[in-house]
Amino acid sequence: MIEVLPIFTNSPLRNFSYLVYSNRTGEAYCIDPFDAKSILTHTRNLGVKIKGILNTHEHGDHTQGNLELKEETKAIVYGHKDAKDKIPGLDKVLKEGDIVFSFEEESLVVWDTPGHTFSHLSFVRKNPKTILGIFSGDTLFNVGVGNCFRGGDPNVMYETISSRFETLPDSCLLYPGHDYWENNLKFAEHVDPKNEFRENFKSKVKPFQVSEIGEEKKLNPFFRRNTNSVKERLVSLNETISDDRSVFLTLRRLRDHW
Ligand SMILES: [Fe+2]
Repeated sequence: MIEVLPIFTNSPLRNFSYLVYSNRTGEAYCIDPFDAKSILTHTRNLGVKIKGILNTHEHGDHTQGNLELKEETKAIVYGHKDAKDKIPGLDKVLKEGDIVFSFEEESLVVWDTPGHTFSHLSFVRKNPKTILGIFSGDTLFNVGVGNCFRGGDPNVMYETISSRFETLPDSCLLYPGHDYWENNLKFAEHVDPKNEFRENFKSKVKPFQVSEIGEEKKLNPFFRRNTNSVKERLVSLNETISDDRSVFLTLRRLRDHW
């Protein structure tokens, strides 16, 4: 089995790095290294060795640990081909469908998921039967989606969310690049006021809770754009909405100014 350890850094950016590893082989991959020292402490405690560093995208808060970690572990640095000149220490590029790592029945597979930037990858953890989890970088967050004003495009984000993330099974675990639970729940209250599931869920949410896609479908206003709760609220805010895409784009714009 592939194990996953989320590593949170308590900075204002609230970044998550992840260690994906096998206890049997001691082989590990680090996704989006933020604080190299803390990641190395965790690998020592677990008794694993980092073979590869995987960057979801080129933004500094997802790559800042690359060089120190590479220096210490001699790991290979991977990223999107269009981020070649922007990812420190990049050795190998990845594309849609590449298998980064496999162990027993499980593997980590690359999805090309543009929107937050045009060189954004997500890493999907799967077995032959189903998708078990997704490392979504700054594409999908708990109760929200990533912004698009640092090299992305909200129209492209809409395509990625609706054609890729919405196809994930309900049981798939979400491993995002940041912990934005608190703010996103507040924004959801603003744009999706009549969501009983959220009101019940809120009292049970623990810090850094890992959610399932099935929960996101009931919590996340960007997934709930077809509900009366969201659509009626946007109309009451004097927003003009027409099709599915327009609801998504309106939500993204309102979240930018939240
Ligand atoms: Fe980013």
